[in-house]
This record gives sequence, structure tokens and C-alpha cells, in this order.
Amino acid sequence: MARIAVVGSINLDLVTTTARRPEPGETVLGSGFETVPGGKGSNQAIAARRAGAEVDFVGAVGDDLFAAELRTALDDAGVGTARLRTVAGPSGVATIVVDASGENTIIVVGGANARMTELSQPDLATIAAADLLLCQLEIPIQTVLAAAHHARAHGTTVVLNPSPAQDLPPELWHAVDIAVVNEGEARRLGSALDPVPHVVTTRGGAGARYRGPEGEFDDPGVTVEVVDTTGAGDTFTGALAAHWHEGPRAALAWACAAGALATTKLGASASIPDAEEIERLLAQRN
Ligand code: RIB
Repeated sequence: MARIAVVGSINLDLVTTTARRPEPGETVLGSGFETVPGGKGSNQAIAARRAGAEVDFVGAVGDDLFAAELRTALDDAGVGTARLRTVAGPSGVATIVVDASGENTIIVVGGANARMTELSQPDLATIAAADLLLCQLEIPIQTVLAAAHHARAHGTTVVLNPSPAQDLPPELWHAVDIAVVNEGEARRLGSALDPVPHVVTTRGGAGARYRGPEGEFDDPGVTVEVVDTTGAGDTFTGALAAHWHEGPRAALAWACAAGALATTKLGASASIPDAEEIERLLAQRN
């Protein structure tokens, strides 16, 4: 079983569903609203745990009403929360609009995540003890960089999902072992990804592509009925990390099946499948 440290964000997702998203300046009537625990870091931690890994989460919630629900979501999933701190001020929130085709738009306000500016000794020890470190870009870049350097120095494999897209110091890429990007991010990053040994590119409904020491290959993915794509990339990344020790081909198959299943229900963390569901879909595919 892989041991994974996730250093990342945790948000409360405010999810509105609507037949179509409004044009700028337009008001439309929505069809539903719910709050769901989310955040790329938390989603990936829960996905890795449900896919079979042992996971510790290093992150921050605020001292507001949302914090308890966010902490409980990780606890209920069996993710270690000893390194989840509470900081003064609001928790992270994401305003998400999902249309009838399952596509979304998301605005994230960092809140407590933006105050993850330092890693403590116990945080660093958690990273050093893990097989893999999993990071995204919803906490300050200096913290991602510090986590990645510490992981490298202690033989922990560094997985980076560079989302949401932003300019990064080139030295970060030299500390990354596995990058998980979507096609838009891959195009935008271009040659910045060259120093990364393993690059996995997600292709929406068309599966994913691997390039690295094992060559270049595609996993065609699995066709499902899409309800909401929110968190599908996070679920893909968490499952990939949980199964990386089985080799890139097996890891991509797990990740594609997990990511596809995540699109079949509304809400990021609410839609993350467990290992049994993923195995069932993989068995149908073979
Ligand atoms: O990737 C989906 C996630 O992005 C949502 O859960 C939201 O919180 C934002 O972080």
C-alpha cells in the first residue's frame, strides 16, 4: 500500500446547477444548490485514500462555520488530519456553476489555504516518511517548492498537478518526478515540462497519455454518462498516485476509471469512487 502525503488546499464548494451558464451581465434561473467539501488537495487526498493508499493531509482550514465540515470529510474518508491546522479567518471556498452538459466554471477564494506559508517540523517529517508527495497550486507556491525540495532530499517521489495554471519558478520542475496536466496546461507549459521524467496528460473523455522512461502510450479511458466533471481530474490524480507503484500502465488504467466514475455524480468529494467501484469498471473494460 502506498503512503502518500498531500500538501494542498481544502475548500467548501458552493455548487449551483443550471441549464446553461449566464453570459456576462445576464441573470439565469438555477435548478439546484448544495455545499460539498472540495479543494484540489482534499479531493486528491480522498481519492488516493479511496483508491487504496494510506494518506496524510497537510493543509489549513479557517476558524469559521465551514471548518468542521471540511475536517469531517477528511476524517470520514480515513485521511490522516494530524497535520490539518486551524488558522484565523475564513476557510477556502469555491463558487462552482455546473451546466446541463456537466461542464463547470469555478472561482476559488483561498482563505486559510493562502495562509499555508510555512511547513512545520512535523509537516516535513510527514513528507519525508511518505512514498509520494502530492501537490497542486491552490496554496502559496513557496510552500509547494519547500515541500518538493524536502521530498526530493528524502527520496519521496514528487507528484505535481499544476492547477490552477499559473507562472511557476523553473526550479520547481526540476524537483518534480511526475506531472499530471490536462491538455490545456500541457500546451501552456510546453517545454517547461521537459525536466520532468514522467508526464501524464489527461484528455477528458478520451482518457490519458503517458510519456517517460516507459515510452509513450495512451489509455483510451472509459465512456460514462457525464453529470458533473468537477473533481474528475483530482480523482484521476489521487488514484494515479495510489497505484503508481504498479507501474505507469496500471496506474493510468486505475486513474482513467476513477476519473470517469467521478463524472457520474454531482459534487467533487461526493463523487469520488472507492477501490471496489474502480475495480468493477476496470473488469468490465477488460
Ligand atoms: O478541482 C475541483 C476543485 O477545484 C473543487 O473542489 C474546488 O474546490 C476547486 O479547488
